[in-house]
Amino acid sequence: MPALAPASRVADLVLPALAGDGPAYARLAEALRRTIVDGRLPQGVRLPSERDLTGPVGLSRTTVTRAYAELRTQGYLATRRGSGSVVQVPRVPGGRVDHLLTPAALDEGALDLTITAPGAPAGIADAYARAAEDLGAYLCGTGYYPSGLPVLRERIADRFTTRGLATTPDQVLVTPGALAAVAIALRALIQRRDRVLVETPTYPNAIATLEGAGARIVPHPIDHVDHDWEVDALARTVQQSGVRAAYLIPDFHNPTGALMSSAQRGDVGRVLRRHGVVPVVDESPAELALEGQPMPEPLGAHVPDAVTAGSASKSFWGGLRVGWLRVPRSRMEEMAASRLRLDLGVPVLEQLVLVHLLDRADDILLEHRARLRERRDSLLLALRAHLPDWQVRVPAGGMSLWCRLPEGSSTALAAAARHYDVALAAGPNFAAAGGLDGWIRLPFVLPPEQLEQVVPRLVLAWEDVLAGRSGGGRVDAPDRGGRQRRIIA
Ligand SMILES: Cc1ncc(COP(=O)(O)O)c(C=O)c1O
Repeated sequence: MPALAPASRVADLVLPALAGDGPAYARLAEALRRTIVDGRLPQGVRLPSERDLTGPVGLSRTTVTRAYAELRTQGYLATRRGSGSVVQVPRVPGGRVDHLLTPAALDEGALDLTITAPGAPAGIADAYARAAEDLGAYLCGTGYYPSGLPVLRERIADRFTTRGLATTPDQVLVTPGALAAVAIALRALIQRRDRVLVETPTYPNAIATLEGAGARIVPHPIDHVDHDWEVDALARTVQQSGVRAAYLIPDFHNPTGALMSSAQRGDVGRVLRRHGVVPVVDESPAELALEGQPMPEPLGAHVPDAVTAGSASKSFWGGLRVGWLRVPRSRMEEMAASRLRLDLGVPVLEQLVLVHLLDRADDILLEHRARLRERRDSLLLALRAHLPDWQVRVPAGGMSLWCRLPEGSSTALAAAARHYDVALAAGPNFAAAGGLDGWIRLPFVLPPEQLEQVVPRLVLAWEDVLAGRSGGGRVDAPDRGGRQRRIIA
């Protein structure tokens, strides 16, 4: 039997959107549809019966019944015998989603907005030069350090301790990036078909990694408009679903940029502890506080059992391919074994580079954040000027804007944008359980000369979407320079 969305919860979600003109059934149907499209009522959830919803929404049973019927006609509800009305998301044409984001293979001059990774900050070349000098001392050894170089494990442990989670080097495992760290952790923590809670929206490749580890995904819709982790709903889901683990991104969540407050960390921690759920905390964006604001303590400080993944990819450079896991001592042996089933470690040179970067982290990060902040602000300015009805909440950190489209489909927008040499990741990529086609993620990592071309090209693509011209066939209208647009078959 699919999990039930309680009537009070459904009412909370739709009531703010019920006001307006037109018949009440149509307003209720539209409010429910938006909530489904937003991913806040995830695919597979059972709506309360018509009778149960009437009281909480203050509408007659006939009205609720008509609204449900309307949603069935539109393809957002399926009636399954014995299971009531179950949420589903209609298939979007061209919207196949495999949750594997990878840099797009693009022609020169094209803009890749599928990836949130900027070029390396100043200081990397110097760190490589210093690391190359250090390397000599390692050359007579085997070069195998399956848990990581001791000197790097020490630096990573110190950084955790400084951030409020006391850590010793023997709790750190160096990995080839945060995604590998998450994979290592999950393989150790779960058996095939175990349930794992995942925020929706979330980082697409993590969904694929979870599925690869055999997890059954239990979506937890966070309020990605108001940046709230919805702790009561989390507690209900954890209790109803019997999840073993939870994959969470509390620090400038990808794609929304949401930051979990210290109070919510305490609440979330309590729920997870009470139900014995192990959080796999992905902290990759944690050093990207773009306003220089103080950060809350790591979520792991609230759950002794937590496993925390981190990475140099977002703080420094993706090309290092170095990340880490921080685990409770009691779990270190199983994590080290899980890692050995995957690979035998990370290159020595890159680990030494990261040691030097961490030694100068404060200076390097100051400049890195300033650079990202400028890019964020210039993208926001251009969006507000040229696409003012796209709604964006300014993220205080991270590397992307999460934009709500006023209408239409981000899948169609991504298809249209390819005609203007822009690669986009449409909203459904980030949905753990369908929906989110009304949303688009826009990273602000490109260098300024490319970033300034983003919005003009998006404007053209958006015009095509609104005119129904996003289908992927010939597009012959002139581009902004008056030339013929590229034609992509
Ligand atoms: C939340 C999150 N986790 C993990 C990754 C991948 O990190 P890494 O390059 O360290 O594997 C990304 C990259 O975008 C990310 O946003």
